[in-house]
Amino acid sequence: MSQSDLHRSAVATPRHIAIIMDGNGRWAESQGKPRVLGHRAGVKSVREVVALCRERKVESLTLFAFSSENWRRPEREVQLLMKLFTTVLRREVRLLKKNGVRLKIIGDISGFEPKLQERIRLAEAQTAECGQMVLNIAANYGGRWDMVDAARQMATLALQGEITPEQIDEALMDRFTCLSDQAEVDLLIRTGGEQRISNFLLWQAAYSELFFSDTLWPDFGEAAFEEALEAFASRQRRFGQTGAQVTPR
Ligand code: FPP
Repeated sequence: MSQSDLHRSAVATPRHIAIIMDGNGRWAESQGKPRVLGHRAGVKSVREVVALCRERKVESLTLFAFSSENWRRPEREVQLLMKLFTTVLRREVRLLKKNGVRLKIIGDISGFEPKLQERIRLAEAQTAECGQMVLNIAANYGGRWDMVDAARQMATLALQGEITPEQIDEALMDRFTCLSDQAEVDLLIRTGGEQRISNFLLWQAAYSELFFSDTLWPDFGEAAFEEALEAFASRQRRFGQTGAQVTPR
């Protein structure tokens, strides 16, 4: 446990927030609309939460847009989601750039169509110089995939004689997982009423505070975001220590 991690427990605003954006489909269905309209409405919440994070000087925001398991959805919904991602990436890049937000996609993008892969690379390149905040979009991402990928990279290095198995420790593994270039995830929010991690940032969320909101993602705006931040500020982060050690009397 580094001193900076301990110090973070006393800081009220999270440096890194991750969100499982759940409830788009139910939001649409409750209004008798097709599910894809829920995803479209969810883009508005993405825009709003990015702006709120910028205002609050949050350094990193990581959003779960498409899990490695989401391919199991009806083919039509997957197709429409891919179309939506392509459009959003093209349309939002200018706004991100204007606000100093660097876009980074985490996940196995080789699973996407070449056109979407190209759009991802372009959007990342266009915002590469932005230094105010990082917006990580997890797409075709799974926490287990992330860890297996790290293990594979380390095994390759070991076979090449670059490292020995004894050198493999948490710090080295961390270097090969996604988001190792950013602050640890302080707060993990899931909207939509379910209370699960769903194979999101399994490695990175080891010490995250968890916040479950009943609000469906398209309705998630400033009030719900503030509620999550207030809950975070009220938590005592102990990182394995006792309460008395963290806040001595
Ligand atoms: C989960 O709701 C939501 C998704 C799987 C997709 C989220 C995508 C967006 C909001 C578009 C954002 C795009 C970018 C590029 C950031 P659900 O369908 O599982 O809802 P349900 O639980 O009500 O069925």
